[in-house]
Amino acid sequence: MTSILGISAFYHDSAAALVVDGRIVAAAQEERFTRKKHDPGFPTNAVAYCLKAGGVQPDNLDYVAFYDKPLLKFDRLLETYLAFAPAGFRSFRLAMPVWLKDKIHLRRVLRQQLKSTRDACFVFTEHHESHAASAFFPSPFSEAAILTIDGVGEWSTATIGMGEGDRIRLLRELKFPHSIGLLYSAFTYYCGFKVNSGEYKLMGLAPYGRPKFADLIRAHLIETKNDGSFWMNMDYFNYCQGLTMTNDRFHQLFGGPPRAPESQLEQIHMDIAASIQLVTEEIVLNMAREAYRLTQKKNLVLAGGVALNCVANGRILREGLFSNLWIQPAAGDAGGALGAALFVWHQLLENPRVPEKKDSQQGSLLGPKFSNEEIARTLEAQAIPRQKFGNEAELLDEVAKLLASGKIVGWFQGRMEFGPRALGARSILGDPRNPKMQSAMNLKIKYRESFRPFAPCILNERVADYFALPSGVESPYMLLVAQVLEKHRTAISEADRKVMIEDPDLRQRVNVTRSTFPAITHVDYSARLQTVDEERHGRFYRLLKSFEQKTGCPVLVNTSFNVRGEPIVCSPEDALRCFLSTDMDVLVLENFFLKKEQMSKTLSAEERIRHLGNFEPD
Ligand SMILES: [Fe+2]
Repeated sequence: MTSILGISAFYHDSAAALVVDGRIVAAAQEERFTRKKHDPGFPTNAVAYCLKAGGVQPDNLDYVAFYDKPLLKFDRLLETYLAFAPAGFRSFRLAMPVWLKDKIHLRRVLRQQLKSTRDACFVFTEHHESHAASAFFPSPFSEAAILTIDGVGEWSTATIGMGEGDRIRLLRELKFPHSIGLLYSAFTYYCGFKVNSGEYKLMGLAPYGRPKFADLIRAHLIETKNDGSFWMNMDYFNYCQGLTMTNDRFHQLFGGPPRAPESQLEQIHMDIAASIQLVTEEIVLNMAREAYRLTQKKNLVLAGGVALNCVANGRILREGLFSNLWIQPAAGDAGGALGAALFVWHQLLENPRVPEKKDSQQGSLLGPKFSNEEIARTLEAQAIPRQKFGNEAELLDEVAKLLASGKIVGWFQGRMEFGPRALGARSILGDPRNPKMQSAMNLKIKYRESFRPFAPCILNERVADYFALPSGVESPYMLLVAQVLEKHRTAISEADRKVMIEDPDLRQRVNVTRSTFPAITHVDYSARLQTVDEERHGRFYRLLKSFEQKTGCPVLVNTSFNVRGEPIVCSPEDALRCFLSTDMDVLVLENFFLKKEQMSKTLSAEERIRHLGNFEPD
């Protein structure tokens, strides 16, 4: 038996993954255990969980694979500093203590953290190799073109590669400072959102705007080349030498300073968002074209933070460059832990690979699960009134009935998701047909006011009746955007049309009913889609089925089980705390069923505020 532990840490969203004899046994992000979003520290808890889940003793580990090469990264930092010296001294000085303390001596740090893994062999894969491995090895394809795109690893910011059987090969790389990830983050920063977590907000803002600035971006900021690469004019950016993403010249180009976080969003921000989204899609498509030219493969696999841009992914699919697309669900750096471990198994140890029909990521349900007995103990300890269903059909019938009557349900089942999306294991569910659902879920549960609609999940076999997804394409990991079909769109009154164009409050615009599923339809009729099948999703699939039987509607709202700024819940305790501190109506923990109206205690307004205060809004 060969046990390989993959680790990603010390940058953003630390994680661990365990691969035993080539099978992905467990994977989890550290933030879920420490309750600190995007926790970059050593993933002590995630490692402990993975080893426990696999029944592997630390001293039985054969390999520990780290997802990047710290010395190469240090080299990049040092060289960038020297190239821009003395301008970059401040950011260089700020970065140095962390490097000198942990990162350069990573091997020693890993040995200290993993005390009893003395016999394990330590392997450091390159950052984009880890991403590429995470994209290809779990995919259902025996061969594929590989595209990895993110901010930056050591030097690479994007790579084109090829996977065949049990091997991957990187064929081209784009190097720092030229980076789609950093370009997108620069605009995220300029529009007043947080870099490294607010990118999805910028993507969600884009449909409100027009790409008026796309030409300006093409003329001044970037130059795309025929080989899929592109060049950025660093006169407008500050990330090589400063602590911000953009500089005064950039601000002048767009007519003013960056938007202050949380301030009013103006039309210009929407237009800028639409513009950078369009340009990003063009660059990604250009790279995908080059990947096809170089590899001539009909399948494409994607990873890296930019692969979470599901609008760009939807565009690749629509362009029809490739017949099939698979995207690593933990596309960001957390997934690097999994990629590094699989890289060791296939690429270094040369073990053959047999692709699985659906893929081998098991719905990305690779985290901890809790038994009914464990849940009973948690509920007992806090004297929580509950009902237990012995029969799944009865449980599903009750939950579907409540969903259909407009209730909001916390749904906690099986193994927690690996990756940023809730996929029906730690989800909050609602009825998408309800025109009040978008604002109710945001205000009563998430404690935020959002201009973005929620994501729908749909029975896999019904997707063609509702969304424009090419035939046979699945989106089990919620990484594709598709349009709501014409027949489900509703007429918009003149008054509403005016609201949609003019209302300065974007929540009013998003809440104009434009389809029979207002809660999940964006202003451009797009939806970020999850397709649900029984093999991957089990009970969650059967719940959707039960909802469909009652209502004729095979779609539910599926949002992550958390409040604003909180990592997705992991344990029954986390779920219970979130349930009691929000206006969620129902909580289902495996076979246990809790109704808010039967709770003898909920958190007071003060306690709720305190709970919310634990999490920094992103
Ligand atoms: Fe990365």
